[in-house]
Amino acid sequence: MQEPLSKLRIEDLTTSNEAMARCLQLAALAAKSDVPVVLLGETGTGKTLLAHAIHNSSARAGRPFIAFNASAMSDTLLESQLFGHERGAFTGAQQSVKGKFELADDGTLFLDEISEMSPLAQVKILRVLEYGEFERLGSERMLTSNARIICASNCSLRERVQHGKLREDLYQRLNGLTLLIPPLRERIQELPALIAAELKAAALKEGKDITAIHPEAMEKLLHHQWRGNLRELNHTVQTMTLFCDGPVILPQHVIFPPDLEADRSVPGSEKTGVAFPNNQQSHARIDLSLASAVKRHVHFVYEQTNRNRRRTAKLLGISRATLARHLRNVA
Ligand SMILES: Nc1ncnc2c1ncn2[C@@H]1O[C@H](COP(=O)(O)OP(=O)(O)OP(=O)(O)O)[C@@H](O)[C@H]1O
Ligand SMILES: [Mg+2]
Repeated sequence: MQEPLSKLRIEDLTTSNEAMARCLQLAALAAKSDVPVVLLGETGTGKTLLAHAIHNSSARAGRPFIAFNASAMSDTLLESQLFGHERGAFTGAQQSVKGKFELADDGTLFLDEISEMSPLAQVKILRVLEYGEFERLGSERMLTSNARIICASNCSLRERVQHGKLREDLYQRLNGLTLLIPPLRERIQELPALIAAELKAAALKEGKDITAIHPEAMEKLLHHQWRGNLRELNHTVQTMTLFCDGPVILPQHVIFPPDLEADRSVPGSEKTGVAFPNNQQSHARIDLSLASAVKRHVHFVYEQTNRNRRRTAKLLGISRATLARHLRNVA
């Protein structure tokens, strides 16, 4: 990635895929207005990245981009996060704090994983969107926010409404312009360029002079399903760069993260270019919890390095003490 998220603009993103090009065109259109935007795409397709790019390309670029993820949050914390609180509003509230809506005034509020939000969060957000007004916890003073809203979801919001998980009125409020980010496996013509760019950056970072990818290594990369999309691709390229100790990436350097390896079935992908992870049956067979994924991944990298703790810690980007703690849990 050329630019940090705080600077990234839509024109920095290029693609040779038609569906992705449409998505970027819509993103450019979205940046020219204040219309609410919904970004739909599987995990790792770049929803957060695109939200930043829309903000940075918009007239609000000089104002804050505030991200909020309300899944798994207590009600008090949720309200205080969204609207802020006054000193003494609840036990432990030692000073006044601004909420996300206040912080994002004149800027952009990015509501991540909108479909996972609790019914309370949905009611609270809807109220601000409808009236543009809110109060901090412990205060009766009305505040206003004209934050521009961008939401992200990895599943169809319409389906969530149909299943009673998302309020219809909130959905209508949020659903201005919907951008479908296609999964990486439907953008395979982009793979060589994406791999080359990421490899260049990773080799530079590691101080390695890697000049080529062996055709068999490239085959492996091109035929992978990329269930974790761009995130998995970047991770894989960084890992193969670390494993590579000569000028050429060899097939044995290409190691895919194991997280979803057990479930090879690809969730139903729609003509729109977005696949939704709605294959409940196959997902039920494996433990999809984050803790379980972390455990498997740490164990996997540890074995790949022939149980070399220093290299494992480096590959995982954690300290050796943290690794030791993980390995105790893995045992
Ligand atoms: N077009 C791209 N080129 C290179 N890297 C990208 C691109 N899009 C996304 N990435 C990288 O892929 C990773 C995942 O992107 P991002 O966090 O935006 O995905 P996401 O859809 O928000 O995922 P999640 O659903 O898990 O929140 C990040 O490291 C990001 O920098
Ligand atoms: Mg994200």
